[in-house]
Amino acid sequence: MEVKISNDVKYIGVDDRTIDLFESQYVVPEGVTYNSYLILDEKVALMDTVDVRGMEEWEKNLMAELGGRSVDYLVVSHLEPDHAGSIGRLMELFPEVTLVGNAKTFAMLPQFFDVSGIKQQTVAEGESLSLGKHTLNFYMAPMVHWPEVMVTYESTEKILFSADGFGKFGAMDAEDDEGWACEARRYYFNIVGKYGAPVQALLKKAATLDIEKICPLHGPILDENLGYYIGLYDTWSSYRPENKGVLVAYASIHGNTGKAAEKFAEMLRERGVEKVVVSDLAREDMAEVIEDAFRYDRMVVAGASYDGGVFPCMQDFLHHLQSKAYQNRTVGIIENGSWAPCAAKTMKAVLDTMKNVTIVEPSVTIKSTMKETDVPVMEALADAIAGA
Ligand code: FEO
Repeated sequence: MEVKISNDVKYIGVDDRTIDLFESQYVVPEGVTYNSYLILDEKVALMDTVDVRGMEEWEKNLMAELGGRSVDYLVVSHLEPDHAGSIGRLMELFPEVTLVGNAKTFAMLPQFFDVSGIKQQTVAEGESLSLGKHTLNFYMAPMVHWPEVMVTYESTEKILFSADGFGKFGAMDAEDDEGWACEARRYYFNIVGKYGAPVQALLKKAATLDIEKICPLHGPILDENLGYYIGLYDTWSSYRPENKGVLVAYASIHGNTGKAAEKFAEMLRERGVEKVVVSDLAREDMAEVIEDAFRYDRMVVAGASYDGGVFPCMQDFLHHLQSKAYQNRTVGIIENGSWAPCAAKTMKAVLDTMKNVTIVEPSVTIKSTMKETDVPVMEALADAIAGA
């Protein structure tokens, strides 16, 4: 798919529709892009390379756009191999290239590539590099995903090269019924979610710039209605819920905890809760459920007791949330147990470590199967969650 940016700024990235798991953990049914950009001016600057999986196609794109010219500068925004994987090849092709990065970039770069004999230009916050008509201005964005990350603002065409920021799963031509936000949100919370404060710091810097286009390292170029995307990033990175609603996430061994979770969801719907999403943690994409946990303002976890704790997919889910800094939400607990229910205590212990997570009472305990006698306490929890 041809991606047009401007006469002087060319997209030379690639789609990867064959990768099984992005970062060896995320399903990407519509693939993923590794974006790379070329700025053609008196000097030629390349903005990042691509994953080695896309190197051959990228090299063809690069050579076609160069039309016989050389690359003068390679700006390294991020060293993770999905972007830096082809630096070695670029150095073979253009040994005269100057690598542009910050002090942290050059501290880590030799861990990936032998760069001895290659020119390096270290840039710091607010420094710039003129290419002729175009000027690159560098802003550090540590931990917007890795410590060495920086973004580049090209001030003539008002383009922000935003590294992983504003990235999205999906090949460039992926059709998304729910629009950009669906896969951008799944990407954000699972990959950058832990780093809300650094993203907030970057948004503050971005607010001082007059931006017309955002060119991320994954997914489409954003060139209209930028306030919408920036607003979502502000909501996500400040750990505010995006929508009112309840995620009911369950971990069920033989289906009985699942039945209780479905019944509970019905109770919430009867109470007029705006949106109720039920997820089976054993079977659904964990990254999708994590996305929903952050998206809505409330969550109910329903887990079967297991080995003196909780069924492993729930344990895994809660640890994912913990490591992604889940916070500022209201949570209800349902447990199941046949002889010594212990899921609630285990789930609560993890939830208690999270910042500003309010656990509402009553917790529900069912024994093996949900019965009529369980309904009143479930109704009481539904009242509390619906009213929270
Ligand atoms: Fe797309 Fe953090 O690399």
